[in-house]
Amino acid sequence: MALRLARGLEKLCRSYPMSLVYRPARADDLAATDALVVSAINDLTVRHGFGPMAMASPPSFQLFSLRDDPDGLWVAEDGGEILGFAWSWVCGNVWFLAQLFVDPARQGQGIGNELLGRTVEHARKSGAAHRALITFTFNRVSQGLYMRHGLFPKMPIYFFNATRARVMGELPAPPLRTLTIDGSAATMEMLTEIDSRAIGASREKHHRYLLDDPATTGVLLFTGNDCVGYSYIGSNGHIGPVAATRPDILREAFTTALKLAADRSAENVSAFLPGTCDSVLSLAIKQCMRITFPMLLMASPGYGDWTQYLPRNPGFM
Ligand SMILES: CC(C)(COP(=O)(O)OP(=O)(O)OC[C@H]1O[C@@H](n2cnc3c(N)ncnc32)[C@H](O)[C@@H]1OP(=O)(O)O)[C@@H](O)C(=O)NCCC(=O)NCCS
Repeated sequence: MALRLARGLEKLCRSYPMSLVYRPARADDLAATDALVVSAINDLTVRHGFGPMAMASPPSFQLFSLRDDPDGLWVAEDGGEILGFAWSWVCGNVWFLAQLFVDPARQGQGIGNELLGRTVEHARKSGAAHRALITFTFNRVSQGLYMRHGLFPKMPIYFFNATRARVMGELPAPPLRTLTIDGSAATMEMLTEIDSRAIGASREKHHRYLLDDPATTGVLLFTGNDCVGYSYIGSNGHIGPVAATRPDILREAFTTALKLAADRSAENVSAFLPGTCDSVLSLAIKQCMRITFPMLLMASPGYGDWTQYLPRNPGFM
C-alpha cells in the first residue's frame, strides 16, 4: 500500500514539476509544435527500423483548426519550451484526434495522458457521438493510452507508395467521369451527401480548406449523371481523401484517382488504404505499390468500419 502511494506520488511529481503547464495552443506555437511532432515521429520510426518518416511543413491545417475551434489544440510547456502537443477537430458527429506528441526526452512521464484528457474533454463538450484517430501499428504506448481513454483498434491502414512509372504500367482506363470541385453550393451539397454516407458526417469546412490549398486538386466522380464520389490528388502524387457513395464504387474511384495521379509529373504515387477495402488493396498491389508504413485506426465502439473512404493522412483523416 505504502509502495503504491509512493509510486503514485512520484508519478504526480514527474507530471507536475513546478513549471510544467498545460494551456490552449496559440497560433504562434504552431511552428514549434510542428518541429516537436517531426522529431517525435522520426524518433519512433527510426527506433522501430522504418527510418525517418516525417519532414517539417507549414502548419496550415493546424492553423485552420485553431481558428475554427480553438478548444481542440493544447500544449504542455515548461519554462517556455513546448514539450507536448495535442490537436483534435470535430465535424458533426465525429471527433478526430489529429495529433498527440510528446518530446522524446519527456515521454513516459504522464504528459501525453494529461494532454489527451484535455482533448477528450473537447470531444465531450462537442457532443460528438463518435471518436477516432490513426496511430502507428508499432507504437504500443499510444495504443495502450488510447484504450485507457475508450478508443479501441478497428482496422489496419497501410501507407502505400510506388514510383509513378511503376504505377502507370497496365493501369486500367479511368472508369469514372471527373469534374473539378468548386466552392458552389451545389458542389458542397454533393460532397456533404457523399461524406454522410461514407463516414457519417459532413466535412464541408474541410473541403473548403482543401479548395484553398494550391497543391491539391479535388474532383467529383460520376457514372453517367450520378455523382458517386470524390477524390483529391496532391501535386506530390499523394491521393486522398477519396470517398464513395457505396462500397462497390470505391475501387473505381481509386482507379480513377491513380490515373489522375499518374498523369501528373510527381515522381511517386502514394495513398493510405484501409485494411477493410479489399478491392482497393488488390489494385494497389497489382499496380506494384508497396506497403511503407503500417498504421491503425482506433475508434470508440461502433465507429470506423470504413469501406467507402480512403483517408488523406493521419491528421486530416
Ligand atoms: C504516445 C505518446 C503521445 C504518449 O505520451 P507519454 O507522455 O509518453 O505517455 P504517458 O506517460 O502520459 O502515458 C503512458 C501510458 O501508456 C500506456 N502504456 C505504455 N506502454 C504500454 C504498453 N506496452 N501496453 C499498454 N499500455 C501501455 C500506459 O497507460 C501508460 O501509463 P502508465 O505508465 O501510467 O501506466 C508519446 O509517447 C509519443 O509522443 N510517442 C511517439 C509518437 C506517437 O506515436 N504519438 C501518437 C500518434 S497518434
